[in-house]
Amino acid sequence: SIKLAVIGGGSSYTPELIEGVIQRVEALPVSEICLVDVEDGKEKLSIIEGLSRRMVEKAGLNIRVRATLDRREAIRDAHFVMTQFRVGGLKARARDERIPLKYNVIGQETTGPGGFAKALRTIPVILDICKDIEELAPDAWLINFTNPAGIVTEAVLKHTKVKSIGLCNVPIGMQYAVAESLNAKPEETYIEFAGLNHMVWGHRVYVNGEDRTQEAIAALIEGGSATMKNIIDTQFSSEFIQALNVIPCPYHRYFYLKNTMLEEEMKSSKTEGTRAEQVMKTEEELFEIYASPEMDKKPEQLEKRGGAHYSKVSLNLVDAIWNNRKDIHTVNILNNGAISNCAPDVSVEINAVIDSAGAHPITFGAMPVELNGLMQQVKSYESLAVEAAITGDRHKALLALTANPFVPDANVAEQMLNDILEQNKSLLPQF
Ligand code: NAD
Ligand code: G6P
Ligand code: MN
Repeated sequence: SIKLAVIGGGSSYTPELIEGVIQRVEALPVSEICLVDVEDGKEKLSIIEGLSRRMVEKAGLNIRVRATLDRREAIRDAHFVMTQFRVGGLKARARDERIPLKYNVIGQETTGPGGFAKALRTIPVILDICKDIEELAPDAWLINFTNPAGIVTEAVLKHTKVKSIGLCNVPIGMQYAVAESLNAKPEETYIEFAGLNHMVWGHRVYVNGEDRTQEAIAALIEGGSATMKNIIDTQFSSEFIQALNVIPCPYHRYFYLKNTMLEEEMKSSKTEGTRAEQVMKTEEELFEIYASPEMDKKPEQLEKRGGAHYSKVSLNLVDAIWNNRKDIHTVNILNNGAISNCAPDVSVEINAVIDSAGAHPITFGAMPVELNGLMQQVKSYESLAVEAAITGDRHKALLALTANPFVPDANVAEQMLNDILEQNKSLLPQF
């Protein structure tokens, strides 16, 4: 039977994970779920523990749900360690979103300088977690959901021995949206994904093996590109989509519609607040509902958050590994030649066959020139961010920020770096 350790167990996404476990109990004999959090998250953790127990009980299942602040105990002998934590909480996220805006730069929690700051805070913690895994559960799989997922996964895969796969709900969200636009079932719709986390493109679309790519592109022009709850829904021009001739992900708005997105962010940061500031209110509402002794399921209000389909994505993966399914999922792993004109030892977001030995990326071929420039630039920023976060080297950090396509010049990068280091002082032991 399976032991799951969930790091960041106090996350409002945990009930979704529990729901996923309950729905799959035939295929996945989970006997223990250990929710781990830190002192600051104690209250949230205990609410989540209560709700999770009620959910399991209602389902009539014999799964032991435990909450603890002792990470090592949770990791010991775990089969899967799922990470979904946020170092510094939403307050730190709000700072990540506010600092860039001061310099007329997009403030986003995963891409751009905001994501960079989050990576600096997160990587030392994930490396510590990996040390625990290496010692206490060397055969465990680390399923990482913690953002910036592509960068965090690259740090783990380059610098530890832990078997790890990074995940995001963007690809499945695109699969559902494209399927709907084609009047097809999501499970019969296959998209060939390749790119980076939050910068992935859907290159080809097949429904039951039939190539429907051109129809899917036409549907984007007709009905608009899908977005997510956390991304302002600006639209690409028809001509641009036609020219691009692949399906951009919701986050591509930040890259291809930089000016519009910045204007929109500027406006909303002055009215309803940055996304973190909005999410703080949603969180309050959610935890009030979770805490009610009558509540024994995942509530609808969770749909206000950006993480739709999270449990599907993560438990599909656990299922594929545990049951040696050899089915295809979109994951963040080392490229290893799958994208031929990209370095082998960097993380990419790509389709892979998943079995008990892990994720085997499917050969994609060469990234076309019109996409490769952006991908390589963002990748060089990401790999520099990993190095900066590991070494605490200020020069690397400055080069990383300067390489980020949102950052207009090196002087601005330097100023933002000063702000980031200053405002995160207590959370950046490596600097
Ligand atoms: P959250 O602010 O609720 O944080 C989750 C929990 O992590 C909190 O209870 C907090 O106390 C805890 N925590 C903080 N530091 C910790 C540490 N060192 N060890 C253990 N626990 C710690 O965050 P959230 O909104 O639920 O998001 C959680 C994470 O998942 C974030 O990193 C977010 O970016 C990520 N996320 C990823 C995706 C994706 O597509 N990959 C989607 C949604 C959210
Ligand atoms: C999306 C992304 C996540 C992101 C989240 C934010 O689903 O894939 O990586 O962190 O939404 O959602 P939130 O509700 O926290 O703004
Ligand atoms: Mn994501």
